[in-house]
Amino acid sequence: MKPAPVVLITGAAAGIGKATALAFARLGYRLLVTDLKAESGPPLLAELKAAGGDARYVVADQAKETDAILAVNTAMEAFGQLDVAINNAGTEGDQTLGLENQTDANVRRTLGVNAEGVLWCLKHEIPALRRSGGGAIVNVSSVAGHVGLETCGAYVASKHAVEGLTKAAALELACFGIRVNAVAPGAIQTDMIDRAVGAGDTDARRAIEGMHPLGRMGTPEEVAAAILFLASDAASFITGQSLAVDGGWLAR
Ligand SMILES: NC(=O)c1ccc[n+]([C@@H]2O[C@H](COP(=O)([O-])OP(=O)(O)OC[C@H]3O[C@@H](n4cnc5c(N)ncnc54)[C@H](O)[C@@H]3O)[C@@H](O)[C@H]2O)c1
Repeated sequence: MKPAPVVLITGAAAGIGKATALAFARLGYRLLVTDLKAESGPPLLAELKAAGGDARYVVADQAKETDAILAVNTAMEAFGQLDVAINNAGTEGDQTLGLENQTDANVRRTLGVNAEGVLWCLKHEIPALRRSGGGAIVNVSSVAGHVGLETCGAYVASKHAVEGLTKAAALELACFGIRVNAVAPGAIQTDMIDRAVGAGDTDARRAIEGMHPLGRMGTPEEVAAAILFLASDAASFITGQSLAVDGGWLAR
């Protein structure tokens, strides 16, 4: 019997990464999941196991090349193959700073995790995917990878970088049978959006909801569904694309 496919997901302890990990687990994938804190591992692994997934957890900071190496090596040692990689981890940074008030720390961290981090992931996922005979990569971008957002310059720059990396990687890897796509979520109901606009029924939340023609934020599960589609054989002729999961935001 063919062994179950293997997926690596960064930033899987919460939000979109967790919903995506649970969706792959329900399909019977074996999973290598990462996040920042050791204590996030046991509860995540328990949920993935209950959903049907054989999973391993690695404490890893997506900003660090050494942690990308660790995650990929652990997946290969545990499972012997890598078929799908979801580069999801991201930070919103400080979205209250205008460009005139940017700090070295905010720019370094936001670009380090969201942009350079995706590049380090790609660098080390590629040889493993090649050894496994090809596969699919999905990078988690944002509507901020397509349009500007006031006071979010570092985040916008980082997500535009993800869009560019996705296209460059798609071209470079097509000859190896590796497809590379992105999803571009609008505002999605996760801890990240709560930090950005407040958890209650705030004016900021209503303003963000109003950016979506569908009149609401999305759910992590709605983004996970798009990621699963792009990673699946149903998307076998799709590469170098960015699929907006944004309730119509970018259609305006
Ligand atoms: N929530 C939104 O509205 C929204 C919109 C567009 C794009 N996104 C993108 O989706 C992705 C996931 O966001 P989310 O809303 O689920 O966020 P979240 O903050 O709810 O969850 C992110 C998870 O990633 C982990 N993480 C953060 N930095 C990390 C790092 N350096 N290395 C490893 N793990 C790290 C966190 O600990 C957390 O478990 C991000 O790339 C984000 O930019 C989110």
